[in-house]
Amino acid sequence: MVVGAGVAGLCVALAAAPRPVILVSRSRGPSGTASAMAQGGIAAAVGPGDEAVCHAADTLVAGACHNDVGAVLDLALSAPGAIDWLVSLGVPFDRGSNGMLSLGREGGHDRARIVHAGGDATGREIMKVLCTAVFASSHVHWLAGNTLEAIGLSAGGRVAAVRVRDSAGRVEPLQAADLVLATGGIGGLFTCTTNPEGSDGAGLALALAAGAKGRDLEFIQWHPTAFAVPSGRHLPLITEALRGAGAELVDDEGNRLMRGTHPLGDLAPRDVVARCLWRHRQAGRRVWLDARKLLEPAWHQFPGVLATCAEQGIDPRRELIPVTPAVHFHMGGIAVDPQGNSNLPGLHAVGEVACSGVHGANRLASNSLLEGVVCGHALGARLGKSGGRGGSAARWVDAGAVPTPAVGRSLSAMLTDALGPLRSGRTLAAAVDAIGADPAMACSWQGRLALRMLVPALARTRSLGAHFRVDSAANHNIRQGIETDAYGEIA
Ligand code: SIN
Repeated sequence: MVVGAGVAGLCVALAAAPRPVILVSRSRGPSGTASAMAQGGIAAAVGPGDEAVCHAADTLVAGACHNDVGAVLDLALSAPGAIDWLVSLGVPFDRGSNGMLSLGREGGHDRARIVHAGGDATGREIMKVLCTAVFASSHVHWLAGNTLEAIGLSAGGRVAAVRVRDSAGRVEPLQAADLVLATGGIGGLFTCTTNPEGSDGAGLALALAAGAKGRDLEFIQWHPTAFAVPSGRHLPLITEALRGAGAELVDDEGNRLMRGTHPLGDLAPRDVVARCLWRHRQAGRRVWLDARKLLEPAWHQFPGVLATCAEQGIDPRRELIPVTPAVHFHMGGIAVDPQGNSNLPGLHAVGEVACSGVHGANRLASNSLLEGVVCGHALGARLGKSGGRGGSAARWVDAGAVPTPAVGRSLSAMLTDALGPLRSGRTLAAAVDAIGADPAMACSWQGRLALRMLVPALARTRSLGAHFRVDSAANHNIRQGIETDAYGEIA
């Protein structure tokens, strides 16, 4: 059983053939998945002179060397093969007039290394092809319109069954010999995110409640440039590739915000840029992306950005784009070994809900679709070779109570404040105390999950990657294993 139909879940389902798979998801097809919304592409060392070790090195630098080095090397080495596999399925990656893959550049990469399809519609193009392949696969039964509600454990503590709930509220128990969670991220827990509505952390919360170990749960990536829509939780992304093509971050007076802050300037690792912009926003100032000097042909790569801006009444060829940092990606998740197994027998995880250590303390741009394809395919192929049937559950586990909307709203506001790009022991401790003091919050699944992120963030008193403590004793970040107060990291 695979829960979640983004890139990772679909790749597991496809690669598990001929073993029968039940694929559980909210909708049938790409809509509502973070994968389909991905504007960045897939990072792969396929360009002239590029090598997997260079891709791996950039991944480690972005991740503040908190990464699992073996996982990083495996990912970087597997990337060109993943592109070939997607091409064989029919993904129409963008190519130059010579037929070679066109390569774009994004933050933290030392060169152009990002493969796109349909310009900034890479996720949508890949999802279309993967969905078509799944529709044509007789071993996959796609159970759409359902969410995972509970996990059934056997007397020996192995996953044996699940309960799913359909949109009419009907609950059905189903046997599951192997359960793969590919349920995505946690952005919906915060007040501003680039994630879709379904990315609310429910899969992660359920796995933790069932006894799966979590890892690196305090590491949350804020994307620097979500479109600053005046109100609303789910903000459209303005892809980093726009900065790769020459757009610049500026303040109200047109001063370049990233100049002198980091050697890579506007293309510094995402956490560095997000902190810089967050400080400006916290000081009551606005932040803009100036893409006006992009030449007309460059805009062909950004149909999604043009459409998003048009919906907001802005023409980015002539006007500045208002941007703000927003929660984008969870580096932490269900702790998995290199094969995708959790500590709970029969429970596996892949994609954003999992944590193999590959992203370290801050994910490198365009490594997440890649992780979904590489790890999803490998996990599916492995599970496809094993047998087994589900059994009856001796014990059912759910994630916890659902809070009232008012409790949910105050929890979101508190989490956004405490787990933002700039963190302090005071706000983290205040959030932990406030949840503990409110039984409705403490018993809710969101409250429980929030504590699993807040407590390690409070305990980690030194800054590392996306976890930046303004009250750190040393008050500076650690990169490449070397403490440095360079790069404008002083709060
Ligand atoms: C982006 O296009 O800026 C996001 C890409 C990513 O999250 O890797």
